[in-house]
Amino acid sequence: MPESLIDKITSLAKRRGFIFPSSEIYGGINACWDYGPLGVRLKGNVKAAWMRTMTQLRDDVEPLDAAILMHPRVWEASGHVENFTDPMVDCRDCRHRFRADEIRDARCPNCRSTNIGEARQFNLMFKTFMGPVEEDAAVVYLRPETAQGIYVNFENVRQSSRRRIPFGIAQIGKAFRNEISPGNFIFRSREFEQMEMQYFIKPGTDEDTFEYWRHQRMQWYLDLGIKKDKLRFREHGPDELAHYARKAMDIEYDFPFGWKELEGIHNRGDWDLSRHQQFSGKDLTYFDDAANERFLPWVIETSAGADRAALTLLLDAYDEEPDKDGVRVILRFSKDIAPIKVAFLPLSKKENLTELALRLEHELRPHFVTDYDETASIGKRYRRQDEIGTPLCVTVDFQSLEDNAVTIRERDSMEQQRVSIDRLREALQDALDRIG
Ligand code: GAP
Repeated sequence: MPESLIDKITSLAKRRGFIFPSSEIYGGINACWDYGPLGVRLKGNVKAAWMRTMTQLRDDVEPLDAAILMHPRVWEASGHVENFTDPMVDCRDCRHRFRADEIRDARCPNCRSTNIGEARQFNLMFKTFMGPVEEDAAVVYLRPETAQGIYVNFENVRQSSRRRIPFGIAQIGKAFRNEISPGNFIFRSREFEQMEMQYFIKPGTDEDTFEYWRHQRMQWYLDLGIKKDKLRFREHGPDELAHYARKAMDIEYDFPFGWKELEGIHNRGDWDLSRHQQFSGKDLTYFDDAANERFLPWVIETSAGADRAALTLLLDAYDEEPDKDGVRVILRFSKDIAPIKVAFLPLSKKENLTELALRLEHELRPHFVTDYDETASIGKRYRRQDEIGTPLCVTVDFQSLEDNAVTIRERDSMEQQRVSIDRLREALQDALDRIG
C-alpha cells in the first residue's frame, strides 16, 4: 500500500528532527509529542508570525502570558467543570473507547460490533493537586484553553495599558485536554499550544467585529503561503456550539483525513465576563466616557492551535519531484516559516574551502538562521536542505578562492546565481524576498 501523506510527514518529522514521540525510550506516551531542533524553529516561526500580526502590526491588541494553573473557581465560572465534556461510548466487545460522534451506523469503528454501551459524559480537563499533601491539597486544573487567563486579567491589562474599548488581548500558551480519541499525529494531542485573542467590544457591535476577524484570520493563513483551495470557512450548527458560544465559525483545512478545524472564531457574547463578575464578585463593567454609558463588554475570540498550524504548514508545503536519483522531497515553506533560511556548503572538504564557508556562515549568522554541512556529495546535501525546506544554499567552490564569489542556489527554481562575497548578505535577502 502506498505510504499516506500523514505517514510520510510523521516519518520525515522524526528522521529530520522536527517532532518526536514523547518519552520514546519508554515506549512513548499516547498523544504527547516533543519538538526537536527543526520543530522548535518551525513552531517558533508560527508563533512569532502570529504575535507579529496580532500585536506588533496593530495598535489595538496587547500581549499577555498568564499562568497555566489558575484558581479552581475560574473553571467553575467559565462553565468548564460542568460543560467541558465529550460524550464517550465503550465497545463491549473490543473494549475500545470512542467519542460518541465517531460511531457510524451504530457500529464500533474498531471491530464493527454493534454491542456498544450507553454514552457517558467525560470531562476533558486534567486535574492535579496544589500543595504537598494530596489529601489536604486543593484540586487545580491544567487549563484546557488559554482564554480564561485573558478574561481574569481583562481589568489589569485595560488599566495598565490605558486601553479603551474596542481592544484585544493576545496570548500564546500550553493547553491540556484529556482527549478521548487523540490522533492524526499532532492534529489532536493531549498537550498542545494555543494562540488565542479575545477582542473586547461594545454589545451590539459583535456581528461586524466577527466578520472582520474571520477574514483577518483567513488572510493570515494565506499570507503564510497555505494554498487557498485547501482552506474554507464552516459555520457551527446550533447543536455544535460550545457552551460559551453564540456563534462559531471554523477555518478548516483539507487534511489528508478530511476537512477539519484549524482555528475557531467565536462570538462569546458576555458569557465569560459576566460569569467571572458573578463568581469573583468583582465589577468588570466598562465606562465609556464618550457615550457616558457603562456596559459589560462582549467578546469576539480567535482561537488557533500552534501545533495544528505547524502540521498544516508541513502538509501543505510537502512536494515530491522525480529526479535522477529517485525522488526529490521538498518542503516549500515561505521564507518566514522555513526553520533554516540559508545553508553554507563547501564543494569539498578541502581545508581552504571549509574555512571560507565557515567564515561566511559565522559572519551571516546574526542576519539569517543558518546551517553548515560539509558531508556527502553536493547533490545529496542540496536534497537534505530541500527536504527540510531551506530556501537558499550558498556553495563555496575552488573558484571562490580566486574570484571572491560564491553560488546561491534557490530551492524552488533550483536556479544558481554567482554573487560577489562583498554583497552576499544583500543578495541573500533579495533572494529570500523573491521567494516570499
Ligand atoms: N478558547 C476556545 C477554544 O479553545 P477550540 O475550538 O476548542 O476553542 C481552538 O480550540 C483551537 O485549538 C483549535 O482550532 C485547534 O487548532 C486547537 N486545538 C484544540 N484542541 C486541540 C488538541 N487536542 N490538539 C491540538 N490542537 C488543539
